[in-house]
Amino acid sequence: MDLNDQSTGGNENYQEGSSGTRLIPRITIQAFCEISQTAELVESSMQDRRMSRVVLTTHNGGVEGAIGAYGENPTPNLIIVESSQTSDELMNLVQRLAEVCDAGTNLIVLGHINDVILYRDLKNLGVSEYLVLPTSPKNIVNAIAELFISSGATPIGHSTAFIAAKGGSGSSIVAHNVAWAIANDIMQDVLILDMDLGFGTSGLNFNQDPPNGIADALFASDNVDSTMLDRLMSKAANHLNLLAPPAMLNKTYDFKEKDFEQTIELSQHAIPAVILDIPHMWTKWVKYTLSMVDRVVIVAEPDLANLRNAKNIVDELKVIRPEENSPILIVNKVATPKRPEISPQEFADSLDIELFGEIAFDAATFGTASNNGQMIAEISKNHKANEVFTNIAFELMGRTSHEAADKSGVMSISGLMKLIKRA
Ligand SMILES: Nc1ncnc2c1ncn2[C@@H]1O[C@H](COP(=O)(O)OP(=O)(O)O)[C@@H](O)[C@H]1O
Ligand SMILES: [Mg+2]
Repeated sequence: MDLNDQSTGGNENYQEGSSGTRLIPRITIQAFCEISQTAELVESSMQDRRMSRVVLTTHNGGVEGAIGAYGENPTPNLIIVESSQTSDELMNLVQRLAEVCDAGTNLIVLGHINDVILYRDLKNLGVSEYLVLPTSPKNIVNAIAELFISSGATPIGHSTAFIAAKGGSGSSIVAHNVAWAIANDIMQDVLILDMDLGFGTSGLNFNQDPPNGIADALFASDNVDSTMLDRLMSKAANHLNLLAPPAMLNKTYDFKEKDFEQTIELSQHAIPAVILDIPHMWTKWVKYTLSMVDRVVIVAEPDLANLRNAKNIVDELKVIRPEENSPILIVNKVATPKRPEISPQEFADSLDIELFGEIAFDAATFGTASNNGQMIAEISKNHKANEVFTNIAFELMGRTSHEAADKSGVMSISGLMKLIKRA
């Protein structure tokens, strides 16, 4: 049996537009080849129009090269490795590679052995596809399409809703900076859906004057597809895309429960990270959106009103997302001068959830960032808040970066807490 035959079908049913084939989402692919011909083969797959949104880089070194590269770095959506090893050696190396891969990373192996048992064993190890060399660029693209756009493919996008316990607590700022961290530290494509149609600040925060992407997407309702979504998104930075609101008051917006659903689902099929910047309100559509996303981040200031509201949100989430992870709690504007505060740890304890991170009040840095339309990392690279943004980014994307693993979790945060805990 020629194993390459197995990967050719599969995507003919997923046609779109006049071109007849659907585009593969905005994934990043890194290929580690042993010989230059294979690197050229992989690179020539980029000429297929289905690959037009994909970012591909090729490297030397085969599977061992990949193992070396990912010991320290986060892994992309898809790794392609070439191997000329024997079956046993290959199985061994793939196992070692799997150990340094983050959850959610897919692996395609290009090998020289045409052997059904090896194919089955690799599949059992979690390898997405094994293609026997020589193969064609079309076979490679078909295998990628099968992985990311076939009917069985899970949406690539992780969706996260950011909500403030009280207006002004900083959920938009945190959402935008986390999006920046995903784009820059993990180098994955991100889409921010600014759902605050009258007053959203995403355009301002990224110093952009973007078109009204989100309004157009919502009002196109059933006609919105991934090509339209592409057109409506504006690029705020490398890897970072925005569906910005009109931020004008000539129209009013009274959304129904599921009005955002289609745009969110479409985004999740197109982009690895979807960040929902939800305004501080309690409506049917907000509640429904919180129930459908992969993760919820609550941003709260350490005062009584925030505590009461956060408690209500946490309790409600338990009802509408009973099987899901508990929300990520960020206590923001800690140690605001002269303000009596609840300690972040007590705040979290009262909610009976983990304190994921805390961010100190810093009017100068956050004020300058807002006025310049820049992210905190752009104006203050070593600011403590960046650590929190990066930790959230890694948590959301299921990354176990070794650097982030050291930084993440409450251990380092609790050390920080002791330093700034107030009486
Ligand atoms: N840690 C902080 N220190 C100082 N100012 C902050 C901090 N976090 C947020 N801000 C400021 O608070 C204001 C409200 O933030 P925003 O993210 O728009 O709140 P929300 O979306 O929760 O209503 C913004 O002007 C922002 O710059
Ligand atoms: Mg906001």
